Amino acid sequence: MPIRLLSTTLIDQIAAGEVIERPASVVKELIENALDAGARRIDIEIEQGGLGLMRVRDDGGGIESAELALAVQRHATSKIASMDDLEAVASLGFRGEALPSIGSVARLRLCSRTPGADAASELQVEGGVLSGPRPAAHPVGTTVEVRDLFYNVPARRRFVRTEPTEFGHIARTVERLGLAAPQVAMRLKHNARLVLDLPAAGDEAARDQRVARVLGVEFPARSLRLAQDGAVQLYGWLGLPTASRANTEAQFWFVNGRPVRDRLLGNAARLGYRDVLYHGRHPAYVLDLRLDPRLVDVNAHPTKLELRFRDSRAVHDFVFRAIERALATRGVATQAASGELALPAALALPAALASPAMSTAGRHYAIGEPAAPPLAALPAAADSREDQPLGTPIAQLHGLYILAQNRRGLILVDMHAAHERVLYEALKIQHATQAPASQRLLEPLALSVAEHELDLLMAALEDFRRLGFELDRLAPTQLAVRAVPALLAHGDVPDMLRAIIHDLSAERGAHHLEASAQRVLAAIACRSAIHAQRRLTLPEMSALLRQMETTERAGQCNHGRPTWTEVSLAELDRLFLRGR
Ligand SMILES: Nc1ncnc2c1ncn2[C@@H]1O[C@H](COP(=O)(O)OP(=O)(O)OP(=O)(O)O)[C@@H](O)[C@H]1O
Ligand SMILES: [Mg+2]
Repeated sequence: MPIRLLSTTLIDQIAAGEVIERPASVVKELIENALDAGARRIDIEIEQGGLGLMRVRDDGGGIESAELALAVQRHATSKIASMDDLEAVASLGFRGEALPSIGSVARLRLCSRTPGADAASELQVEGGVLSGPRPAAHPVGTTVEVRDLFYNVPARRRFVRTEPTEFGHIARTVERLGLAAPQVAMRLKHNARLVLDLPAAGDEAARDQRVARVLGVEFPARSLRLAQDGAVQLYGWLGLPTASRANTEAQFWFVNGRPVRDRLLGNAARLGYRDVLYHGRHPAYVLDLRLDPRLVDVNAHPTKLELRFRDSRAVHDFVFRAIERALATRGVATQAASGELALPAALALPAALASPAMSTAGRHYAIGEPAAPPLAALPAAADSREDQPLGTPIAQLHGLYILAQNRRGLILVDMHAAHERVLYEALKIQHATQAPASQRLLEPLALSVAEHELDLLMAALEDFRRLGFELDRLAPTQLAVRAVPALLAHGDVPDMLRAIIHDLSAERGAHHLEASAQRVLAAIACRSAIHAQRRLTLPEMSALLRQMETTERAGQCNHGRPTWTEVSLAELDRLFLRGR
């Protein structure tokens, strides 16, 4: 075949392939246009999962009659005019190709009126051919109708799924944009039935309601509000571990208000939650990262869902640390008062609380010499003090729980989970400041490991040495383990190492070293924490409660389960129908 120029229609259809993947892509583009036009309310009507009809009506600034034909032309936009504009773009659209793309793969009708015009105009596009503009009736704003998507692109049409699936994608899209622009009212109808009604949410409480509509009524209560100041800011709702899910569907990222699906941000968040969620659970959050638009390139992908940050490393670290910090402070509320962590107290685990594993290891891992005030000397205070939110212990229940009372009522503590967290946090602090005890194995342990995995392990050798490991590569796939952290000596060392190696290859990149260290420390904490059925004296219980109060993240065990809960007197009264 000779080389020839493609027809404009075919060029548009090819380009449409990148932007319009399925009905939901059309809805996304049309809502974005409405938001860019300053709409206060947007009505979305869908028929047959979007394959029949998609109609988006807004009350924004409208399009001049004389410009209607231009709006559906490729590379025509009112949003940028220069490279400078592009680099600092704040509107959702800027490529000038959504409407022409839609017009080339569906039957398109635009009807619009600007505030200054005495009448509305409408324009139709079918198979790339325009008809109009002609006068029409429409209030100020714009309605865009899209029918028979992919009627002329059979290959695409075959990829479209069932009506409920496609409508599901549309609903997700509306929710996502609804979270991005809470100040705009949005309504979504499917086959004439109202499916989603999001009233404009001006203030905080209204925003909570919108978030609750999308992520579930219980979500706002199970999340932290984030508002970080500075040149780079992170706003939004950070779901607590108790709000975690089995999939990643409840994760919403926005950058300067633009909905994005960005791997870097997703990874940074995952890392921020690493310490409080167990494997297989995914955090829920709605987060908006705000930074100078010049620091991010939104022109990295036709659908604008992916971004490029100028300094991706800095953004990653900022997000990761901000989330980690926010979750960490959510322990037992006392830290707020002092702001400082009582490190010595957290490290000075009373000897009586140390597990057998800890004492037989010869060196008290988290303890050093028992420098803590002798346990018996701790007053088992009769009256609960305000600075002790976990109160005074009363008893141990079934060898599992500690019962305590504070001013407000009853406290229940899962003693193993709580102690595990206390130890883990202490170990992390200790790891950051000093070398742990190491124990040589009588016989070196031989392990065979995939070559590329062993490469990764070797690259992190120094980190492992600092944890108390002594490792040697004997052959490309052979590892010898000569020494291990003392507290792991009695554990399943091969199992543990395999888990760490797995983490290493999964978390390749900036933070795998830290991750592997934490994995080892978490295992030590779990092995060393007091186990069920161990009888505790009241002073021992009290010591544990006090340590929890000064420990970061003490509200959750290392696997994200809660460590304690409170039953208020009011709740108890209700149980017994008191005061009714
Ligand atoms: N709902 C609307 N209200 C007012 N003007 C609109 C509306 N929809 C489209 N327009 C006008 O039509 C132009 C073309 O829209 P189109 O979506 O094709 O491109 P864009 O939004 O500029 O860029 P992108 O392709 O990135 O979305 C816009 O620049 C805008 O001026
Ligand atoms: Mg657009």
